[in-house]
Amino acid sequence: FEEKSLRPQRLSQYIGQDKVKEELSIYIQAAKNRQEALDHVLLFGPPGLGKTTLAMVIANEMGVQIRTTSGPAIERPGDLVALLNELEPGDVLFIDEIHRLPRIVEEMLYSAMEDYYVDIMVGQGSGAHPVHFELPPFTLVGATTRAGMLSAPLRDRFGIVSHLEYYQIEDLQEIVLRSATIFETEILEEGAFELARRSRGTPRIANRLLRRVRDVAQVESDGVVDQKIADKALTILRVDQEGLDYVDQKILKTMIELYGGGPVGLSTLSVNISEETETVEDMYEPYLIQKGFIQRTPRGRVATPRAYAHLGYRYKE
Ligand code: ADE
Repeated sequence: FEEKSLRPQRLSQYIGQDKVKEELSIYIQAAKNRQEALDHVLLFGPPGLGKTTLAMVIANEMGVQIRTTSGPAIERPGDLVALLNELEPGDVLFIDEIHRLPRIVEEMLYSAMEDYYVDIMVGQGSGAHPVHFELPPFTLVGATTRAGMLSAPLRDRFGIVSHLEYYQIEDLQEIVLRSATIFETEILEEGAFELARRSRGTPRIANRLLRRVRDVAQVESDGVVDQKIADKALTILRVDQEGLDYVDQKILKTMIELYGGGPVGLSTLSVNISEETETVEDMYEPYLIQKGFIQRTPRGRVATPRAYAHLGYRYKE
């Protein structure tokens, strides 16, 4: 319930990602004026940046219903047909982790996206025959963390492609202040800034940390979140001064202590820290690369001098 009310409903309430908002706003307005379904939208970006929220905002702005599912949840063509069958004209079908759709389901999507129909095989053996299904015009909103994992035929069928980026600290601060209002938590600008600064550019993380910071403020103080309380809570949560969490730190330490700073392969690294390769690749590595702690080289990942300095190791050339 709380999580839901944290989500902005309209584009005007959605903080940050200005370029994405500006483009979407134009395409939404144009589609509405023409009384057409919005063209299919592909959202790229690391987890927690608001891809699902944006899909809901798009549906809201278009004034249509949204059906939500994910790549792994659609196992067979019949699952997709069941979803498509429920769509009203103009509706949004949101498929999270769209890069994980089974191949045969993905191939069915091509005609659905391009010409609003699917042909499915019905029956067994010699009785098997194709059945033609007409669909209403609809908007597919697909979300994925990884640009490279989407096949070209699928990618090419999205008319609108938006890349979400890690949020600016100022935008995250605004998100934290907004969430605190919704939580009815008193927070100072400096408290919100401290949280924003240490949330890895990610609203989902900022909002999660805000809940814990609120707890600490309530128990250890007068309930008001100032910089000191925010710092105290973040320290308890092992979020360091650069906003790196326990897993980030473990990744860098492992690279430095066990592999001399690298190069080390992603799967080797993932096994060492007991995380899925995909989790490391989608959630941790992009931020560590952006912050300049890790570099990708053809032979594997390398810890930078900045990583050494941050964790208090001496850098050896
Ligand atoms: N909550 C999470 N992400 C948000 C965003 N981008 N804008 C407003 N509130 C949010």
